[in-house]
Amino acid sequence: MSIKVENIYKTYGEKEAIVQALKGVSFQIEEGEFVTLMGRSGCGKSTLLHIIAGYLQPTHGKISFDGTNFTGLNESEKNNFRKEHIAVIFQFFSLFPDLNVYENIQFVLDLNKKNKNKDELLDLLKLLGIDDKINKYPSELSGGQQQRVAIARALVLDPKIIIADEPTGNLDSETSEEVLNLLLEMKDRFNISILMATHSQEVASYADRIILMNDGQISDIIYSDNK
Ligand SMILES: Nc1ncnc2c1ncn2[C@@H]1O[C@H](COP(=O)(O)OP(=O)(O)OP(=O)(O)O)[C@@H](O)[C@H]1O
Ligand SMILES: [Mg+2]
Repeated sequence: MSIKVENIYKTYGEKEAIVQALKGVSFQIEEGEFVTLMGRSGCGKSTLLHIIAGYLQPTHGKISFDGTNFTGLNESEKNNFRKEHIAVIFQFFSLFPDLNVYENIQFVLDLNKKNKNKDELLDLLKLLGIDDKINKYPSELSGGQQQRVAIARALVLDPKIIIADEPTGNLDSETSEEVLNLLLEMKDRFNISILMATHSQEVASYADRIILMNDGQISDIIYSDNK
């Protein structure tokens, strides 16, 4: 699925406390492309990703997916569209503390009225290296393991688009590389489009394209020679 971002502005607060977090951001991501968003802390990456995922309303501008005007949908239409097509992985992943790993994933499947048998779930958990944690509760897992559960929960829905905010930020470099390889494998197999904010040069080195942001605007676009 393609993503079109048109002239996005976002202002937080008002009067003296006004923050212009985004000042006219436009770009397009083609189906199956892996694009990373980079730039200094505070340049607007998370704000932009929240807007693209529909969790935050832009002050101005428009987001479309395959030509569907996403910004124009009401909340419940947005929810339905997201359920159907978009997986969101944010840095502060919220697992349900009273549910174990299996139940956390099953909950999301139920919520989205999707079915996966336990073997399929186990395959995914195995790929992420946490199949032995299936009956553990979040409090019994390390930060990196919790993050992998959050990634499993996103991938299990077979999304067409993954929007991720520093999804490997809490992982050691080896696990981070494994998770990235998994995402890339999913991307190649299912032609998923990925937009990911990261501070890591290494993560960005996997991308088809790097969008550099500075103070709420795009300052540069770097095409990789991976392809
Ligand atoms: N809810 C909010 N209210 C007011 N200002 C905000 C809010 N959220 C973010 N900001 C401000 O908007 C700007 C962009 O923040 P954002 O979180 O998008 O940056 P970021 O690029 O994701 O940074 P980081 O790399 O540290 O995650 C910052 O100046 C920040 O202080
Ligand atoms: Mg951020």
